Amino acid sequence: MERAFGSLPLELFLVVLDQLVATSSGHPPIAYGPSDSVTKALRALTLVSRTSYLSASRYLYAHCLYLNTTTNYTQFRRTIGLDIGKTPLTLEYGEAGRNDDLFYEADIPRIITSAFISPEKTGPWGCGKVLMVRLPQIIDLGNRIGQTLKRLALDMQPVYTPGSQILSVKPHTATNNIFLHMPNLEDLICSYDVTDYFPHPPPNLKRLAMTFQGMDDLHLDFCFAISSLEILVCLRPEELQAADIDKLFDRYKGHHIDIVLVDVNAHHCTPPNTRDWEEEDRVKIWEVDVPRSYYGDDDELILCDSWIWTHGVNGTLWNQGKRRMLSWSEIQDRLADPEIADIDDGEELETDIMMHDSYPVLGDDLEH
Ligand SMILES: *[C@@H]1O[C@H](CO)[C@@H](O)[C@H](O)[C@H]1NC(C)=O
Ligand SMILES: *[C@@H]1O[C@H](CO)[C@@H](O)[C@H](O)[C@H]1NC(C)=O
Ligand SMILES: *[C@@H]1O[C@H](CO)[C@@H](O)[C@H](O)[C@H]1NC(C)=O
Repeated sequence: MERAFGSLPLELFLVVLDQLVATSSGHPPIAYGPSDSVTKALRALTLVSRTSYLSASRYLYAHCLYLNTTTNYTQFRRTIGLDIGKTPLTLEYGEAGRNDDLFYEADIPRIITSAFISPEKTGPWGCGKVLMVRLPQIIDLGNRIGQTLKRLALDMQPVYTPGSQILSVKPHTATNNIFLHMPNLEDLICSYDVTDYFPHPPPNLKRLAMTFQGMDDLHLDFCFAISSLEILVCLRPEELQAADIDKLFDRYKGHHIDIVLVDVNAHHCTPPNTRDWEEEDRVKIWEVDVPRSYYGDDDELILCDSWIWTHGVNGTLWNQGKRRMLSWSEIQDRLADPEIADIDDGEELETDIMMHDSYPVLGDDLEH
């Protein structure tokens, strides 16, 4: 490797790295995991030479910030110079947590544009203790790296947030509301409970996926406080009503939004008396089917929730095949006139799951 890359001009080396992290779909993953071959290759390249160390490190911090355990999260907080208190990961006095020269020469703090944060507790350590991330440690890290972030996946469910802590930390104040300090954030994948701590959204968000299921004010306020939003992905409410759809239309203030409801195929249906869609509608409602696994699934909610997460983190969520929800009168027309059900209006239907009945049967024509 040394011989292969050590002698490459820097520009060529950078082209190689660009190729390495590129994806065919256009949307890169939020972060490549530690066992992904991209991450492994970049880590190997950091060992080749000083030049390749600097470039490969930049790519690692820009594309592979995959913090799925408390250990990884705490190590990262330590690396960017946040106080981690007394934990099994605390360094001895004077022990270096990072190579400062390289860290600043590579300009690491300014190139972090994407992060996956879902710090599952780790341990047990020495005396049987487990390590958990607490709310203030989400806030300090969020404020430290937020300025440059473009894409973020944030799961608050593993974070330790007792009511007393929420009161003392005051996450709702402007200084502690991490999203207000993320002016460049365009893509956000987050757990439904994020609004409990941070009720105000990032100011210029374009794509939001959030695992809430009801059309309650807390979530709708978060989603529609900004007019820049172009796509919203959420779980389909179990008892979706025509009034909920009206609410979505009323609250959205921007130019155009696609609202994508996620559920298993059998649950999708248009609520009775849903409004008719108009040409000039700024809001479009779509349905996405989550495939059931071959063995059957116990909990459909968990299935759909983790579907949003895996595709969100993989960068494959925004381009998922989806179909336009039918309006109520379209459904009634179809019921009244069975012939209409056979017309494939492919423009509105990106998948043909509902159309199987209309496939021509081989041999139909032979009798004529
Ligand atoms: C974290 O990610 C690594 C690599 O993908 C995986 O091996 C590990 O099981 C994950 N840990 C948790 C707690 O999700
Ligand atoms: C993340 O933490 C796990 C232990 O939970 C550790 O094995 C792994 O090396 C860490 N990954 C990174 C990239 O530091
Ligand atoms: C997400 O990406 C990983 C690694 O590329 C892949 O193994 C997995 O199948 C993907 N999952 C989904 C739901 O696309």
